[in-house]
Order: sequence, then structure tokens, then C-alpha cells
Amino acid sequence: MPGTSVRTDESQQIAEYWNDIAHDFDAIYTGDKNPIARSLDRWLRRDIYQRFEWVMREAGPPDLRGMKICDIGCGSGRFVASLAKRGAEVTGVDFAPEMLKLGAQLCEKESVADRCKFVLSDVLDWKTDEQFDLVIAIGFWDYVADPLPRLQVIRKLTKTTFLSAWPRAATLRASIRKVRLKAEGCPVYFFTLPQVEDYLQRAGFSVERREILGQLHCVRSRSV
Ligand SMILES: C[S@@+](CC[C@H](N)C(=O)[O-])C[C@H]1O[C@@H](n2cnc3c(N)ncnc32)[C@H](O)[C@@H]1O
Repeated sequence: MPGTSVRTDESQQIAEYWNDIAHDFDAIYTGDKNPIARSLDRWLRRDIYQRFEWVMREAGPPDLRGMKICDIGCGSGRFVASLAKRGAEVTGVDFAPEMLKLGAQLCEKESVADRCKFVLSDVLDWKTDEQFDLVIAIGFWDYVADPLPRLQVIRKLTKTTFLSAWPRAATLRASIRKVRLKAEGCPVYFFTLPQVEDYLQRAGFSVERREILGQLHCVRSRSV
């Protein structure tokens, strides 16, 4: 795994937070927890499953052979493995090594490891000339104080389409989450739709479609 170090104290703090809770996070997908916690996930974290389905729909036809996809902040590789199972070549980028370990194990288990690559890096530090037909960044912007520099890097990676999910500002759940994550040592950020659209446009994307799913703005945009 080509790797670079994380950039700022805050990045370091966020990477450590996700590294420590990698297995607990992945259990939201596997349901490997007690029945009460599982029910709470289905209720309070419904948009985690909804954003997954949204990406699977928006990615294109069932057969993605010939497509190159990049997943920014890929976490435990759930999107990477599912898109690779449809035939795409997928690269996942994340700065939490434990997350990438889970992602690599999942891709082995699903027999798609030959089409998947994982890169240990903050996207800001990732040096590559590669370009991708589709780039996704889901559950990622929550942990980015200043989205523009990273969006500009993502724009260079994106040949055509960029799918992103942004935590909505000014909801009751946003305030509760901010307090909870701060207590757990992880900063979290929220965005209004005009802010999201402005960032995307300034980075060189044009917004094609947007929808609200639970606490999220899900936005499909295109390189211009
Ligand atoms: C909530 S998890 C989402 C994982 C995956 N996208 C999903 O939805 O299942 C957020 C992930 O983003 C990663 N992440 C956050 N900021 C990052 C950054 N600046 N560069 C690389 N990875 C980052 C974290 O390490 C973590 O694995």
C-alpha cells in the first residue's frame, strides 16, 4: 500500500479516531452487534444504508466492467467491494490503516481483490496521475473543515462523475452529533446546500442532481 503521512494535527486526530473504531463502524453494515444496537442503527443511522443504495443506483448499469472508480474515505471497503463485484476496477483511499485492512479482507472474501487497490493517504497528499470515470466521497465531508482544497484534488481525479454525500447543517441531529463526537475526540462539520453547491462549483464541478436522504445532501455532479 503506497502511503503518506497525514497533514495536520486535526487530520491525525480524525485518522486515529477512525482507526480505533474501524470494527465498530463496519458492524453497522454487517449487523454484527446485539439486537437492540442493530435496531437503533436501522432507525437512527438509516441514511447510512440509504446513501449506500443511492451510490449503487447512481453508479450506472449493473455491469460496470471497463469502468475505473475511486472511493475517497473508503473506510472498511463496503462500496469498493460492491462496485468491484459489478466488474469495475476500484481504488479506495483512506488514512486509517485498520479501515483499509478490513477493506482488503472484504475484497479477498468477495473474490474481487484483483480489481481493487487501497491507498493509505489523506486525499490531499495522494500523488497520482490516475483519473477515474467515477469518484465517490461518502461519509467523508463530515470530517473536513475546509472542503475546497480536497475537492480540487478530487476534481483532478474525476474524468466524468462525482457522487458526494454531505451532512446537513441546522438539524437537531447535527447538534447532538456534534456534541457526541466532540466528546469522543473527533471534530465534525455540517453544510447547507448553497455551501455545498458553491464548493463544488468553485472546484470545477457542475451540479446535475441533488436529493435529501435523512440527514444528508446527496449530490451528483460532473467535471466541467
Ligand atoms: C464514516 S467513515 C465512511 C467510510 C465509507 N465511505 C462508508 O461510507 O462506509 C469515514 C472515513 O473517512 C476517512 N477519512 C476522513 N477524512 C479523511 C481524509 N482527509 N483522507 C482520507 N480518509 C479520510 C476515515 O478514516 C474513515 O474511514
